[in-house]
Amino acid sequence: MTNAGIRLVGELLEVAEELSKEAGRLTLLHFGLALDFENKSDGSPVTEVDRAAERLLRRGISSRYPAHGILGEEFGESDPGAEVRWILDPIDGTLSFMRGVPLYGVLIGIEMEGEAVVGIAHFPALGETVAAGRGLGCTLNGKPCRVSEVAELAEAVVCTTDEKANAAGRAAVGWTELRTRCGLARTWGDAYGHALVATGRADVQVDPRLHLWDAAPLLPILTEAGGRFTTLEGEATIRGDSGVSSNGLLHDEVLDVLGSV
Ligand code: 2AM
Ligand code: CA
Repeated sequence: MTNAGIRLVGELLEVAEELSKEAGRLTLLHFGLALDFENKSDGSPVTEVDRAAERLLRRGISSRYPAHGILGEEFGESDPGAEVRWILDPIDGTLSFMRGVPLYGVLIGIEMEGEAVVGIAHFPALGETVAAGRGLGCTLNGKPCRVSEVAELAEAVVCTTDEKANAAGRAAVGWTELRTRCGLARTWGDAYGHALVATGRADVQVDPRLHLWDAAPLLPILTEAGGRFTTLEGEATIRGDSGVSSNGLLHDEVLDVLGSV
């Protein structure tokens, strides 16, 4: 990347972090309240706060960078083909948000010429922000953070989002095997599980089902934290439909176990 490219990544990282916190403050006004919701086609809930937070992010981006493209979970894509594309999940973990569980997040990923270069996972109710820019490292609340050094699966803390969905999904057999072989298996993940891996507090997070807006910030975050983020098939891309984060040391073994039939 050119020096100008690196400077732009740094600038976008700062702006994205600021916008995620603005959107986060808006969500906190409604956190845990009995909100009306609709179920989307994938079975996940959405509220008016999801939409309001995405509108806020879109306004903030367009006013600063009118030429940038935006893809958001709630309002789709504008300016496809732009050199810089912002990818937004205004509330990841809407179910947590609605129930007053503080593990929901505001996710922002930024691609430059098709490469995921910035990732923000901000957790408003926890006051935690994990942020990464290509070549600039990964931080938790502004301080550098790194993945763990656990190298034995039998000692690893493995997280996932939804046991029920795992049991019904394509990695069902592999997930059961992984749960048996790891040290500790925990849930209530969503993006927070991946953030735990990037900050060394968990060792692996498995999501057999993931959308582009979930994955977009996670690839730069895990890479810059010294770990790995891939699909179940082992591809380091945000364009798959699954996501496995790890400290890197455990990655190949975890993918092997998940692929076992
Ligand atoms: P969301 O809260 O932004 O919709 C990845 O597993 C993501 O898929 C979750 O973080 C969640 O993000 C969404 N998701 C998909 N189906 C879901 C369901 N049935 N219930 C809850 N969340 C779901
Ligand atoms: Ca969402």
